[in-house]
Formats: sequence, structure tokens, C-alpha cells
Amino acid sequence: MNHQHHRRGLRTVAAVAFASLVAVAGVASAQAAGTTLQAAASDTGRYFGAAIAGYRLSDSTYSTIANREFNMVTAENEMKMDATEPTQGQFSYSSADQIVNWATSNGKRVRGHALAWHSQQPSWMANLSGAALRSAMLNHVTQVATHYRGKIYAWDVVNEAYADGSSGARRDSNLQRTGDDWIEQAFRAARAADPTAKLCYNDYNTDNWTWEKTQAVYSMVRDFKARGVPIDCVGFQSHFNSGSPYPSNYRTTLQRFADLGVDVQITELDIEGSGSAQADTYAKVVADCLAVSRCTGITVWGVRDSDSWRASGTPLLFDGQGNKKAAYASTLAALNGGASTPTPTPTPTPTPTPTPTPTPTPTPTNPPGSGACTATMRITSSWQGGFQGEVTVKAGAARTSWSTSFTSSASVQVWNGVHTVSGSTHTVTNQPYNGALAAGASTTYGFTATGTAPISPPAVSCS
Ligand code: G3I
Repeated sequence: MNHQHHRRGLRTVAAVAFASLVAVAGVASAQAAGTTLQAAASDTGRYFGAAIAGYRLSDSTYSTIANREFNMVTAENEMKMDATEPTQGQFSYSSADQIVNWATSNGKRVRGHALAWHSQQPSWMANLSGAALRSAMLNHVTQVATHYRGKIYAWDVVNEAYADGSSGARRDSNLQRTGDDWIEQAFRAARAADPTAKLCYNDYNTDNWTWEKTQAVYSMVRDFKARGVPIDCVGFQSHFNSGSPYPSNYRTTLQRFADLGVDVQITELDIEGSGSAQADTYAKVVADCLAVSRCTGITVWGVRDSDSWRASGTPLLFDGQGNKKAAYASTLAALNGGASTPTPTPTPTPTPTPTPTPTPTPTPTNPPGSGACTATMRITSSWQGGFQGEVTVKAGAARTSWSTSFTSSASVQVWNGVHTVSGSTHTVTNQPYNGALAAGASTTYGFTATGTAPISPPAVSCS
């Protein structure tokens, strides 16, 4: 558990103790807003990540900011094809492993970037074509996804496969010349190798809903969903500058893709500029993600301006000295102002886990005037070493806060609820935004847990 969680845990314990003494509503509103990007994002059920360059982790200014502010990590270059398979058939994971290990040991998750891409191919691959290239590409996807099996939240399986401009066509590349089905074959190979990772298509210049490239990717994703090609998410790189500005219909784009039945993620955000103009645009991007329930997180493409691939455009949230910029403040404020909550989707599994029947647990006693509530848990997915589930809280009479409790020896992480643990007793109370329930209304919080999923989920009490 990192310091952030620990501190928030103490704050929550105090809030819960107070709530049980006074048993009145509105206690949760006393909870402070998140003071880091990761804390504020996770209060909305989302992550906030950064691209990390392994060689910079020895810079303590860099690693201190990275550890404090972000809870999702993307290797900026270390998982690309040239880094992981420099010689055909010989895989090299040390640089990528360094980042994965840093992330894991600091309690962060990892986005994998990227399994198949026309760019940053090792020279042996760049010189291949036809059936030999197709099979080398699929072998690469299989080997790398297998190496990181169970350690990746989401993979950019295919990156940047569409052409810029108004053609709406695939980008010409050696991979594209192996046949149109190279993308779906890459997704199928990735699913077979790591059924626990979400599988994403990732691209840039797909932010404006009216652009041909956006529409072309949208059509591909719709087709994949219709034909059962295993795709779970779409990444929007969102590198904004004057030539490729933030579009006012960005939220529409995110929502339309989400409506296809995939998660959406902002995967490489940077916004060139400075001062209030830059800060305002960051806030708009954050608000757009928060407005879309299946927008599950935001990653910025670097930590300080000086770390950026576009350093001269000062596009990030920290200046070269590591100071917070106006854009940092507006991003944090926007995260704290978000009232919508995402609908987490289960991590895919090849064989669906049987979902045990929920066990309603009537509350024995209720604080006067708060109205009875019931809570039921169900397991939504599981994989080797972990599982995910949700608890639905239903109000008998109208109420303004709730508190649930269950017993489990698993290590549990909760979203859309405030979680405290004492021994094996887990208490989850409402967040400020989901405490109020009309009579008969319900709300849901989610969790991931380590260990093996119980056949029968534990009873959950509610008060
Ligand atoms: O490490 C070598 C160094 O030893 C050498 O002296 C130097 C000379 O050029 O190159 C260094 O490697 C560079 C590497 O970044 C690390 O800084 C590569 O040349 C350079 O090509 C590479 O650029 C990366 C770029 O992808 C390559 O396409 C950027 O860091 C990285 O931010 C950028 O990220 C991409 C995403 O993967 C996909 N979306 C767009 C995004 C921005 O271009």
C-alpha cells in the first residue's frame, strides 16, 4: 500500500468512526478532495497515468513526481517491437521489466505499448514482407503478451494503422501489405496469449468526430464488435497543438466509440502551449473523460515538459524543474469536480467464470430515519491470482449515505466507494457523489481482489 492510500485510509477511518457515532447523513461531504492526480482520478473510479522512460527513473525529481501523482504507467519506448525483439526470435525484456517492476512495486498498473506497429520495428522486421512478416508479427504478439501475461491492464495491440488525411484508408506499411486481416489476427493472438488484459486499438488524429480517420477507425471497431474480434478498448493518443487542436466534439467522439461497447482511454495526452489557455484545454479534456462512463482513464505522455518528445512545446503538467504548472491545477480541479462515475467492465477471460447467485443480506438494524438498505455482491470475472466483482446497494427508503460491510481475507481495492479494512472485515461507505439514494434506488461499487474467487460471494450487510 503506498503512502497515498495509507493517508486516505486514515482519513476514511476517522470519517467512518464519526459516522457510526452520529449516524447522520452528510458525513462523507466532509471528505477532502483528492490532492494528487491519482487520488482525484481514483475517486471517480478512473486512473491517471504517465508515460515513463526507464532511464529517467534514477532522477529523483522525476521518480518522486511519477510515484506521487500517477497510478498507471506506460513504457514510453521500452515495450515497442525494436526494444523487445531486437533480433528475430531473441526477446529482450530487461528495459521493459525495469518499468513494470517499478510500477508494480509502487502499486501502479501498466498499459502495454505496443505489440504491432508500422514504426519502431527492428530492422530485421522492417525488411520482411508477406507470409514471413505476418508470421513474425504474430509470433511477436504472442511472445510479448505471454511474457507479460497477467501484468498488463490494457495492451495497445495495434498502433496507428490508419492513414492521415481524408482517404479513410489503412496506412500503407509492410504490415498492411500482408493483408487487411493483420489487425484482427493480432488481436486474436493477443487474446490467446493474455486473456486478462484489455485489448485496445490506439491512434492519433482520431479525436475529431468529423474527421475521416476517426470515422474509419470507428467503422473498424464496429465491424470487429459485430464479428466477435476480441477488442475491448480504443485509445485516443490526443497529442494536441495548433495544427491538431483539441476539438469541441471530443466528448462526442469518446461517447460514440464507448457506445460501440468498448472502453475508451486517453492514452498519450499532451497539449502544447502555456498559461491559462493550456490549463483550460486540459480541464476540458478531463471533463470530457469524466462525462463518459466508459472513459476509464487518462495518461499524459511524460512527466515534466523537459521529458516530453515535444519539449519545446511545453505540453505537460510539470515544468522542467518539476514545479506544478497552471495546467496541473486545472487538471486536478477538473478531476475533483467530476461527478459522473465510470461503469467498470470486467477484465476479459476466455472462459466466462460462472457468476454465483447474489446473496441479498437484509440489514438487521438501521440508524433511525435512514431507511433500510440491502447489499448484494457478485463476482464479475476472475483470472489466475485475482478476481473482480461488484456490490449493489439498494435503498429501502430514501437515504443520503450508506455503509456496507463484508468479510474476506483477500486484499481488496475498491472504486466508487470509500474502503477501510480491520482484520478481515471490509467496510465500504459511499463516496460524496453516490450516497444519496431515492427509495428503491440502487448504486454499485466495484472491486478487484487478489486470490481465488469465492464460489459463493460473502454476505454484505448494509446500514
Ligand atoms: O535512446 C537513443 C539514444 O541512445 C540515441 O542517442 C538517440 C539518437 O536519436 O536516440 C535515442 O532514442 C530515441 C528514443 O525516442 C528515446 O529518446 C529515438 O531515437 C526516438 O525515435 C524515440 O522517439 C520516441 C518516438 O515515439 C518514436 O516513434 C519518443 O521517445 C516517444 O515519445 C514516441 O512516442 C510515440 C508513441 O509511441 C506513439 N504515439 C506517438 C508518440 C509520440 O511520437
